[in-house]
Amino acid sequence: MDDYKGILTKCIHAGNKKNDTYDALHTPIYMTSNYRLPTDGTPVDWSGIHTNIYTRNGNVNQFVLQDKLSAVEGAEDCVVLGSGVAALSGVFLTFLDSGDHVICSKVCYSAVNILFRKLLPDKYHIEVDMVDTTDLNEVKKAIKPNTKLIHVETPGNPTTGISDIAEISKIAKGADALLSVDGTFASPLCQKPLELGADLVIHSMTKYINGHGDSLGGCVLGKTQLIDMIKEQAMVNIGGILSPFNAWLISRGLTTLPLRVKQHSENAMKIAEFLEQDKRVRFVHYPGLKSHPQHELAEKQMLGSYAGMLSFDIKGGEQEHLKFLNSLKLISHAVSLGDAESLIVYTDKYGEKIKYYPEIYAEGFFRFSVGLEDAEDILNDLKQALDKCGI
Ligand SMILES: Cc1ncc(COP(=O)(O)O)c(C=O)c1O
Repeated sequence: MDDYKGILTKCIHAGNKKNDTYDALHTPIYMTSNYRLPTDGTPVDWSGIHTNIYTRNGNVNQFVLQDKLSAVEGAEDCVVLGSGVAALSGVFLTFLDSGDHVICSKVCYSAVNILFRKLLPDKYHIEVDMVDTTDLNEVKKAIKPNTKLIHVETPGNPTTGISDIAEISKIAKGADALLSVDGTFASPLCQKPLELGADLVIHSMTKYINGHGDSLGGCVLGKTQLIDMIKEQAMVNIGGILSPFNAWLISRGLTTLPLRVKQHSENAMKIAEFLEQDKRVRFVHYPGLKSHPQHELAEKQMLGSYAGMLSFDIKGGEQEHLKFLNSLKLISHAVSLGDAESLIVYTDKYGEKIKYYPEIYAEGFFRFSVGLEDAEDILNDLKQALDKCGI
């Protein structure tokens, strides 16, 4: 694969196994929990991660997906786990000991919020500072002698706030800490955190990488030495394994990732521009819009496209918000993101998490995952719902 530099070629060909007994062109699904062990007295490393023993130690379909992802992200190595949260907690539990200190984006996925605000401090005595990582001074100020990890989500879920990976990686290196970046909102196509100095990049593969809304998975990419530690601890001994079937489904999804991200990005830009000029819209945040609070940084740090996630709010009160939501016909009110279908989530002003977001979110807002439908159809759905909600 090293001969091929193109991202489409890598997504299609990297990692594929060509030694199937029946000459199958595509790697079959190895639905097996165990493998034959040597009978010649060769010692077995029961917790090993490099030989086929048991599917929790590794499986052919995971190997295919890991190799494909490493090629696409430009990483030395990769581990795939059962969900994005398994990948995130795998990083935290592998690299943090009790008494260590972590700095994390204040705006982050809800499970990370709960892990860092409650579980890890209460159960494992890990010290945590949740700060606005879009502000470098806040990150610098939070550093302590025992800081072991800075974890950043960029673009952040749900606000799409952008944190400066290159500058934060300098701060982390100066403190002898690791930097992990959750790049789920950008996908591996719109941003390359490892090239900007991050030690680990994490994706919920449930989202863009799989892209078809039919399976959960997570991955962590980085240097082999770090990835092996996650495999040994989070995969073999904590057991956050990805099933062979999901690994196969996600490998299939990954084949078309560049084409899908291009379409998501083009559609999202059109939708963001439409929302920005509509007087009934209170605000819209999309990293590709000049009006985004960190647009200049997004332009510098991302790769010229911004994927399909935006957040916005309409004018009016709760009644108008619900009317708008219930008038949507094509766009579904559902969690998750990066699927072919357009998905929207309404967060009302009473939500617990809202206090962690910038002031403009305090009245409630919509998080929108712009799908792969024709942009015109998505726009028309938004327009007719806006017309019906009486603002
Ligand atoms: C940015 C981000 N990271 C991680 C996750 C968790 O991924 P999963 O649902 O695959 O566990 C999500 C889920 O929405 C997410 O948006």
